[in-house]
Amino acid sequence: MTTVGFIGSGHIGGTVARLAVAAGYDVVLSNSRGPASLAGLVAELGPGARAATTAEAAAAGEFVVLSVPFKAHADLSAAELTGKLVLDTSNYYPQRDGHVAELHEDVLTSSEITQRQLPGSTVVKVFNTITFMHLAELHRPAGDPDRTALTIAGDDADAKQTVTAFLDAIGYDAVDVGPLAQSWRVEPGQPAYAAPFGVYGKPGTPAGVDALMAAVAQAKR
Ligand SMILES: NC(=O)c1ccc[n+]([C@@H]2O[C@H](COP(=O)([O-])OP(=O)(O)OC[C@H]3O[C@@H](n4cnc5c(N)ncnc54)[C@H](OP(=O)(O)O)[C@@H]3O)[C@@H](O)[C@H]2O)c1
Repeated sequence: MTTVGFIGSGHIGGTVARLAVAAGYDVVLSNSRGPASLAGLVAELGPGARAATTAEAAAAGEFVVLSVPFKAHADLSAAELTGKLVLDTSNYYPQRDGHVAELHEDVLTSSEITQRQLPGSTVVKVFNTITFMHLAELHRPAGDPDRTALTIAGDDADAKQTVTAFLDAIGYDAVDVGPLAQSWRVEPGQPAYAAPFGVYGKPGTPAGVDALMAAVAQAKR
């Protein structure tokens, strides 16, 4: 049984946890307020889920879904995540996260900054382009003609293979957009961001590998 750790168990973290438990994974959830505040979600998810501190979730996970606001990455303990594959769901929104000059000047991508903050970890960017509501509904079994694809970006081929297998298990195909330096192609405002999956608040639209690749190919900055 593979255990997935979660740092951040809100809209996206909680949705990925639901999909993971449904696919047979165990999950260890954490947030900023402590394990007691996650009792409701743990009860909903059943025996495959437990709540813990962020350090315990990081230690327990074969890999760790990091799903907190980008600005909260600065609070993370790099030591606790050393040696871990970290699935970075984050997007940079300056109105929420504060002004980061390297991002405005296109010097780095937000996930390169996350990788710099976690030098002992292997970061793969994933789940950042789809709203939590569409993520909750668009999963399909392998081979389904309406299967949706999600983008991944990262610098380590083995890590991306692990993330691709996780996506497959929870009901999604993967489109690899390259290293973290290329992940600007799937950041907010780009054609592959949110729009391929439909309108926010409305039922989602399946978007397969070809549709995602076409959207990524239109990226500009
Ligand atoms: N919402 C979406 O549809 C969506 C889609 C794609 C990507 N994203 C991105 O994914 C990330 C998470 O978004 P979200 O919508 O899931 O946010 P959210 O619903 O506000 O959940 C954030 C989670 O992070 C936890 N958290 C915050 N600061 C923390 C810290 N310092 N240490 C540990 N846990 C901390 C929160 O815990 P507490 O509740 O205890 O504070 C909460 O569990 C963001 O970067 C967002 O841009 C969101």
